[in-house]
Amino acid sequence: MRIFFAIFAFSVVVLVSILGFRGSLSERPPIEIFPDMERQSKYKAQSESRFFADGRTDRPVPPGVVHRQYDDPASSERLDDDHYNRGRDSNGDYAEGFPMVVSRAVMERGQDRYRIFCGSCHGGVGDGQGITGEYGMVGVPDFNTERLQDMPEGEWFEVISQGRGLMGAYKDKLNVDDRWAVIAYVRALQRARLGTEEDVPEDMRGELGL
Ligand code: HEC
Repeated sequence: MRIFFAIFAFSVVVLVSILGFRGSLSERPPIEIFPDMERQSKYKAQSESRFFADGRTDRPVPPGVVHRQYDDPASSERLDDDHYNRGRDSNGDYAEGFPMVVSRAVMERGQDRYRIFCGSCHGGVGDGQGITGEYGMVGVPDFNTERLQDMPEGEWFEVISQGRGLMGAYKDKLNVDDRWAVIAYVRALQRARLGTEEDVPEDMRGELGL
């Protein structure tokens, strides 16, 4: 028992000498076992810098810089347009059709974006057989099903913007115009799949051996 008291008294003295009395102030910084990133060298907004000649920490943008995600003047003019921005009609349902004229330029843009952002999974023709399938990506649907052919453009817009199920969102990669352009291109892929002999002008059917 005497030994216990001796050890106890000794530990109290050691602890108090290391940690100090409760409430006493210390000039020394506390011991941080896991400092994480609480302290780091950084500039605070609008503070002074001794590094830069002009003394400002907020650096002006170098001349000629272009915003990486280019802004289409059309999108800022159409802030109230629910069809365009959300794929919804005035009742809040998925909108049918396109909120812009589908021109050749739109289709080409759509093809370009589709090949970059969709084809890897959904395949160049939208059959769900993209290259990622060979690396274990499963469950990618074929666009040429009745359900996806009938799915309103507005719902397509939502799927691309927010993702759905296993599919991720693409609104950070495709601006509003590009999302609509991709949908226009997908519609062309679907239409091509549904094409029949009748769609080919008569004088050109020979070329297809029909
Ligand atoms: C990384 C792979 C991948 C990419 C890239 C991808 N998708 Fe998907 N997509 C999927 C998968 C997986 C599903 C099935 C999601 C589910 O049902 O859980 C899917 C489903 C869909 C659906 C069907 C949603 C439904 O209601 O069944 C649409 C439409 C679609 N994708 C469009 C696109 C478009 C357009 C792009 C390009 C902007 C794209 N996807 C890019 C993997 C991808």
